[in-house]
Amino acid sequence: MGSVSLQSETMAADPAPLFSRRIQRWEPGAIRSLLPLEAIPGMISLVAGKPNPQTFPFSKISITLNDSKETTLVLDDAALSEALQYNLPAGHPGLLKWLEGLQQTVHGLSSAGSWACCVGNGSQELIHKAFQVFTDLGDPVMLETPAYPGVSAFLRADGHELVEVCSGPDGVDPSDLERVLSAWPENRRRPTVLYTVPTGSNPTGRSCSETNKARILRLAKRFNFMIFEDDAYYFLNFEEDPSKRARSYLSLEREVNGETGRVMRFDSLSKIVSSGMRLGILTGPAPAVQKVVKITENINLQPTTTSQVLVLTLFRHWGYTGFVEHCTQAASFYRAKRDAFAAAAERHLRGRATWEVPRAGMFFWFRLLLPPGADDSLELLRRKGIENRILAIPGTAFFPNPRRAPHLRASYSLVSEHDMDEACRRIAKLVDDAWRDEFAAHARAQRAEAEEEIKSNSQMQTIEATTTALGLPTARKIMA
Ligand SMILES: Cc1ncc(COP(=O)(O)O)c(C=O)c1O
Repeated sequence: MGSVSLQSETMAADPAPLFSRRIQRWEPGAIRSLLPLEAIPGMISLVAGKPNPQTFPFSKISITLNDSKETTLVLDDAALSEALQYNLPAGHPGLLKWLEGLQQTVHGLSSAGSWACCVGNGSQELIHKAFQVFTDLGDPVMLETPAYPGVSAFLRADGHELVEVCSGPDGVDPSDLERVLSAWPENRRRPTVLYTVPTGSNPTGRSCSETNKARILRLAKRFNFMIFEDDAYYFLNFEEDPSKRARSYLSLEREVNGETGRVMRFDSLSKIVSSGMRLGILTGPAPAVQKVVKITENINLQPTTTSQVLVLTLFRHWGYTGFVEHCTQAASFYRAKRDAFAAAAERHLRGRATWEVPRAGMFFWFRLLLPPGADDSLELLRRKGIENRILAIPGTAFFPNPRRAPHLRASYSLVSEHDMDEACRRIAKLVDDAWRDEFAAHARAQRAEAEEEIKSNSQMQTIEATTTALGLPTARKIMA
C-alpha cells in the first residue's frame, strides 16, 4: 500500500494511492460521461436514450410547506421538465452548487478545487460506494464500536475483517485507535478506513469531542488512513451555542494536519428534510468523489432527480439562513423529546440500567443491569419483550463481531411523552422480571439440592437400619 502524496499548491493529500484494486477496474459510464457536454451552447445531442417528457403524465408539481404561511412553491416549466428527466450522475448541478456553498458556510471550506461533493440516494448508498473505493473485499476496516449496523452488515457480507475501536463518552477513543494501529502486524495490509458517527452516534447517542477528533486526524495522517465521517445527525445537535459544538473532521483537518484529503464526509437529508426523498451528500477529496460517481454512472445512473429538484426549490426559497433555522427548529424538537425521555428513564430505570444523556441525535443507549449469566438483552427481548409489548434493538446488533450484550438502543424520535413513560416502565419490568426469574431459579436449585440431600440422608438411614438388622457393619463404619 502506498502513502498519500501531497499536492503542495493545494495542501491536499492525494488519496489515490489508497484506492482499492477493484475501483481501478471501473471505466467511465459510456453514456453518462458524455452528458455534461450536452450543456455546451449549440450542441445537438443524440446521446442519451432520454424519454420525451411530452409523454409523461405530470403537468405540475407544487409543494406546500408546513410553515406559518403555508407557503406554496410551484416548479416552473424548466424545473418540472428537469425534475422528471434523467440528470447527471454526481447530482443535479444546481443542487450540487448549493450544497458546495453550504459546506463552505458550515464547515469553513475554501472554494479551492481539491474537494468536491456528490449526491446519492441517501447517505448509506454513498457510504457503501465509498468503501468500494478504498477497500477490496476482505480488507480490514476499523469501526467505531458500538457501530451502526447498516454499515457493519454490508461490510460483514463482503467478508471484511471488522476491527473494533472503542468509543467512550467523548466518541472514538484515540488511545484505543492508536493501540490498534501500533500493534498492527507489519506483514498484514493495514486498514485504510476508520468509519465513525461523530454526532449523536447511532446507537450510543455519543458525540465526539474536538480534542478526540484532532487526535484521530493526527493518527490518520501518521498511519495513513481515511476517516469516513458519517454525520447523519450533525444538524440534530442539542448544544444551543454553535461555538460550543465540536467542529467536524472536515473543518478541522487543515488546522490540525496542515493539509486536507483524508476525510470523506457523509451528510444526510433524511433526518432534517425527509427520509423518503432519499438524499445524501458526500464531501471529500475530488479524486475519491469522482470514483464514487463512476460507480453511480455504472450502477444506478444517478440520484433521483425529482427529489433533488424539490429540495433545491425548497433550499433556494430558504437560503442558507433559512436552512440553518429549520435545522435549529428540528434540533429543538428533538431536544424536548430527549428531555422527556431522560425524565422517564430517570423515573423508572435508575438502579436498573446505566446510560448517558445524549447531546445530539435520537438514541438512548442503555446498559441493563441484568443478573450475571442472564445478561443478554437479545434473549431477554426475545423471551419477554413481545409478551410485555416493548420493542427496542438489542445491543448485540451494534457489535460488529458477534457477542452477548446487556445493552439496548431506544429511539425517542416518534414516541409520545406518555408512551416514553410507559416504555421505560416496561423496560424496568423486564429487568425486574429477569432478577425475579434468577432468584426463582436460584431458589429452585437450592430446594432441589436440599431435597437431594434429604433423600440421600434418608436412603442412608434405611441402608444403615437394614445392615444393622442383618448384623452387618454399617456403611458409616465402612467409610470411616
Ligand atoms: C448513522 C447513520 N448513517 C446513515 C444512515 C442512513 O441515512 P440515509 O437515510 O441518508 O441513507 C442512518 C440512518 O438511520 C444512520 O443512523
